[in-house]
Amino acid sequence: MLRQIDQRLCKAAISARHNAYAPYSKFKVGAAILDEFDNIHLGVNVENAAYPQGSCAEAGAISAMIAAGGQQIKVIAVSGAGVELCTPCGGCRQRIREFANPQTEILICNELAFARRFLLEELLPASFGPDNLNT
Ligand code: THU
Repeated sequence: MLRQIDQRLCKAAISARHNAYAPYSKFKVGAAILDEFDNIHLGVNVENAAYPQGSCAEAGAISAMIAAGGQQIKVIAVSGAGVELCTPCGGCRQRIREFANPQTEILICNELAFARRFLLEELLPASFGPDNLNT
């Protein structure tokens, strides 16, 4: 069973997803971050006619968190449609790592509900993070 706050986070990601701008891939993604102040920050993928300029939902949620003064991801929920789990792309795993730790939970949702929970270390093993720069 999910904690109540995790349910809230999943609902936030699922409903934000509807606002995604994905006219090219048609693959809408929503993300919701719970920060260290228990504030929730939303992001969606925003594509561009110049394809490489598009950005992921997770990147948007991280920007919203930083702009609001948060610096720690306690939990992140991601929502995408389809049979396959919408796990964060490789680049976003590293983006999440910057503000999280190996034990941070990543909740994957389909377009309707929570589907599966991962720890960041499962998605990004032996990761490189800010501490690695403390030589
Ligand atoms: N996408 C995300 O927003 N997050 C992910 O973790 C996976 C992929 C977006 C990028 C692009 O707009 C669309 O999904 C298809 O790749």
